Amino acid sequence: MKRKEWILKIDSKRSNEIFEFLSFYGLTSFYSESLPNGKEETFHIYTEDKSMIDEIAKKFGVTCEMKISNDEDWISIWRRSLKIIDVEKGLHINPDPERFQDPEDGITVKVTPGMAFGTGEHETTKLAASLLKTYLKDGMRVCDVGCGTGVLSAIAKKLGASKVLAVDMDEDALKQARETAVLNDVDYEVKKSDLLLNVNEEFDLYVANIVFDVLLKLIPQLPHKVLFIASGVDKPRADEFANFCEKMDFQIIEKRCENEWCAFAVKT
Ligand SMILES: C[S@@+](CC[C@H](N)C(=O)[O-])C[C@H]1O[C@@H](n2cnc3c(N)ncnc32)[C@H](O)[C@@H]1O
Repeated sequence: MKRKEWILKIDSKRSNEIFEFLSFYGLTSFYSESLPNGKEETFHIYTEDKSMIDEIAKKFGVTCEMKISNDEDWISIWRRSLKIIDVEKGLHINPDPERFQDPEDGITVKVTPGMAFGTGEHETTKLAASLLKTYLKDGMRVCDVGCGTGVLSAIAKKLGASKVLAVDMDEDALKQARETAVLNDVDYEVKKSDLLLNVNEEFDLYVANIVFDVLLKLIPQLPHKVLFIASGVDKPRADEFANFCEKMDFQIIEKRCENEWCAFAVKT
């Protein structure tokens, strides 16, 4: 299939803002590359929605070049760039199981390379996974809010969760999350829900890697006295996030950051 590909260059410090903008609009068909100078990134965005591109150009003060490309081209370029992700010692994500063998040590979760968010490459996924490794204790019941490919649900299951519920609003994400369960030979429930609106039971631990504004909407829906792992907070708004939690009488147990992103472990 032919697609419009929009190419733009931006200061690396602002790449998270574009990422957040695209995630907010539910656009997952894009990738970015760091330029050799280390200071800029090139974004390749695949969309027919010219008004979204105009908004990006205006908001970020950039020019966007357009070319027509094949779906297969971008998938193969992007797929070639994938590699095994070492979240930390003993916890890995295999983003292309047809190409890579799982590492021999610890736990590896496989995901199928596709377009729904969550191959595990992004800092926000890695931070959430690493906090899960620290705080998930054997037998805990876990709810993964905004599960994407289900990568965090599969990790939770492999780390010893007794039950996992994966929820998302996006049909493609739900389909991929089900596929990830099969691929990893783990068992978790996948359900369509806008945050926790369609979730009728309580869990010991909630994990969410979602954009900032949506995290703030989720917080008042959480039950008391449970663990909450929140990822997707950009560094400049980390204090705002912590203050919001404290206003709710939630206790911040830990903040972990990588590059421009932070994640929190919170006791509600
Ligand atoms: C940044 S991705 C994270 C995917 C995966 N959990 C990970 O860590 O790689 C955010 C996901 O949240 C979902 N999402 C956004 N708003 C949501 C909402 N209100 N309710 C449920 N899911 C939502 C999106 O569809 C997307 O799959």
